[in-house]
Amino acid sequence: MKVINSEYKKRNMKIWNEVAPRYHKRWASVNKGPFQSTKKLIELMKINEKNLVLDVACGTGVVTKQIQKKVGKSGQVVGIDTSTTAIKIAKKENKKNKNLDFLNADAENFSFSKKFDIVTCQYALFFFPNAQKALKNIKNNLKKSGSIGISVHGSNENVPFFSSILDSATKYIPDYIPPGTPNLDRFGTKSALKIEVRKAGFSNIVTKEFIFKYSPGKFEDYWKNYIKYIAKPLKEKLNALEYSKRKEFKNSVKEKTLQYTKRNGDIIFPWQVLILTAKNN
Ligand SMILES: C[S@@+](CC[C@H](N)C(=O)[O-])C[C@H]1O[C@@H](n2cnc3c(N)ncnc32)[C@H](O)[C@@H]1O
Repeated sequence: MKVINSEYKKRNMKIWNEVAPRYHKRWASVNKGPFQSTKKLIELMKINEKNLVLDVACGTGVVTKQIQKKVGKSGQVVGIDTSTTAIKIAKKENKKNKNLDFLNADAENFSFSKKFDIVTCQYALFFFPNAQKALKNIKNNLKKSGSIGISVHGSNENVPFFSSILDSATKYIPDYIPPGTPNLDRFGTKSALKIEVRKAGFSNIVTKEFIFKYSPGKFEDYWKNYIKYIAKPLKEKLNALEYSKRKEFKNSVKEKTLQYTKRNGDIIFPWQVLILTAKNN
C-alpha cells in the first residue's frame, strides 16, 4: 500500500506541476466552474479579523487570497500544496500581501509551531491517498476551538463535466486510470464525507450540497478544451488510440452530453459540490 501510495503521489505531483498554470487560467483566476463554490466556503467558515488560517492543498492560492481579505492585516494565512508550480504562481500573484505565506508541504505530513483557528481544503481531500492521515494531521494543527471547511465534488453522476469523458475514457483506454489511483469521487456523497471526517475525531459536522451550472460551450469546445487542459500522459494515451476507436470514444462522450445540450447546441452541465464544516471538539 505504501509503495503504491508514494508512486501515486509522485505521479499526481507531476500532473499538478504541469496542469497548475492552465487550471489557474481556466478556472481558478476567473471563479468559473467549481470555483463558484469558493464564496460559499468562505461564508460558511465565518472568518474573522486576527484569525490564523491554513489552506491545505491551496493550489495557485485563489481560495487563500479570499481568506486573506477576511482576516485583514491583523490575521495570518498560510497556504500549503505539494505542487511547486502551483506554489510559485500563488507567491507571484500575492507578492504584496505580507500576512499571506505559501509553502510546499504534503497534507499528510505537515506541522506548524502555531495552531490554526480555521483550516480549509477545497477540492483536494479525494487526492490524498491516506485521507485519514491528512484529516488527523489537520486536527493536530488546529486550536481546540478551531474549525474546518472542506469542499469536494459530488459523486460521478452529479458532475457530468468529468464523468461524461471519464466514463468513456476508462472504457476505451483500460489503463487511463493507473492502478493505485484513489477513487476521486469517494467522498462525493454527504454520508461518505461525514463518516471520513467523524472518524478523524471532528464533531458538529454539517454537510451542505450546492448545485452550480457550468457551460463549457458547444460539444466541440468541451471536447477540444478538455483534451487541451489535461496532463500530457493522458493526452498521449488518447492520441495513441486508433482513429476509429477515437471516433467511437468521442461519439460515446457526445451521447452522454446530449441530455445537457440546449437547442442552440450549448451544453449546460449541473455541478454538484459538497461543503462540510466541523469543529475540532
Ligand atoms: C483541484 S486542485 C485545488 C487547488 C485549490 N484548493 C483550489 O481550489 O484552487 C488540487 C490540489 O491538491 C494538491 N495536492 C494533491 N495532493 C496533495 C497532497 N498530498 N498534499 C498537498 N497538496 C496536494 C495539488 O497539487 C493541487 O494543487
